[in-house]
Amino acid sequence: MTTKFLVSFLLISSCVLSIHGYRDDTGFIGKVDPKSFGLGKPKTLSHFRFYWHEIFSGNNPSSVRVVPSVPKYNTSSTFGSVGIFDNVLTLGPELYSKVVGRAEGLYAATSQTQLTLLVAINLALTQGKYNGSTITFLGRSPIAQKVRELPIIGGSGVFKFATGFVESRTLNFDPVTRNNTVQFDVYVFH
Ligand SMILES: *[C@@H]1O[C@H](CO)[C@@H](O)[C@H](O)[C@H]1NC(C)=O
Ligand SMILES: *[C@@H]1O[C@H](CO)[C@@H](O)[C@H](O)[C@H]1NC(C)=O
Ligand SMILES: *[C@@H]1O[C@H](CO)[C@@H](O)[C@H](O)[C@H]1NC(C)=O
Repeated sequence: MTTKFLVSFLLISSCVLSIHGYRDDTGFIGKVDPKSFGLGKPKTLSHFRFYWHEIFSGNNPSSVRVVPSVPKYNTSSTFGSVGIFDNVLTLGPELYSKVVGRAEGLYAATSQTQLTLLVAINLALTQGKYNGSTITFLGRSPIAQKVRELPIIGGSGVFKFATGFVESRTLNFDPVTRNNTVQFDVYVFH
């Protein structure tokens, strides 16, 4: 009687475990065939060129400083300041050119002596087969440098498991409003 009970208990609990997908107590579910995520095919190194438009002025700025800099540090470094942006991405350098997505992210001024930013950016693309896919990059951006290189740390949709880097160049900057246009050359392995 007891053995029967024990056997059915074990059967029921193993059913419950398999329904929930638990295999052991570490959370490990199982091995996955990389092909099920489209991996295993030769990778493509794609080059995209986008322009972002960062607008600090007017009633609907696309970039806002949310934490002011710490006054006791070199004022030109703006050390400690943090900002959030949701800037439009276009195909050409003009604000009225075709919109291909958004650049959402944040920056923090992380150098005590010069204007150097830690940036974390999600490019959320909206056109063609890239609609709904994202590319994420994170890196160090010394603003005074003509070209800043930022590592791509991943992506979603067609950019799952992406690697690569982004070259970022400021095309114009208005010192009064701080509005600026930046060219992104995205080199992404996916
Ligand atoms: C800054 O952005 C605002 C809002 O779009 C715009 O009206 C203004 O012309 C821009 N300023 C410059 C110098 O680009
Ligand atoms: C403050 O920043 C300016 C511009 O980067 C630099 O020339 C100057 O040496 C800095 N001063 C200090 C005290 O770090
Ligand atoms: C992108 O995808 C969204 C959500 O599926 C859809 O509403 C939108 O029309 C698509 N945009 C383009 C340009 O295909």
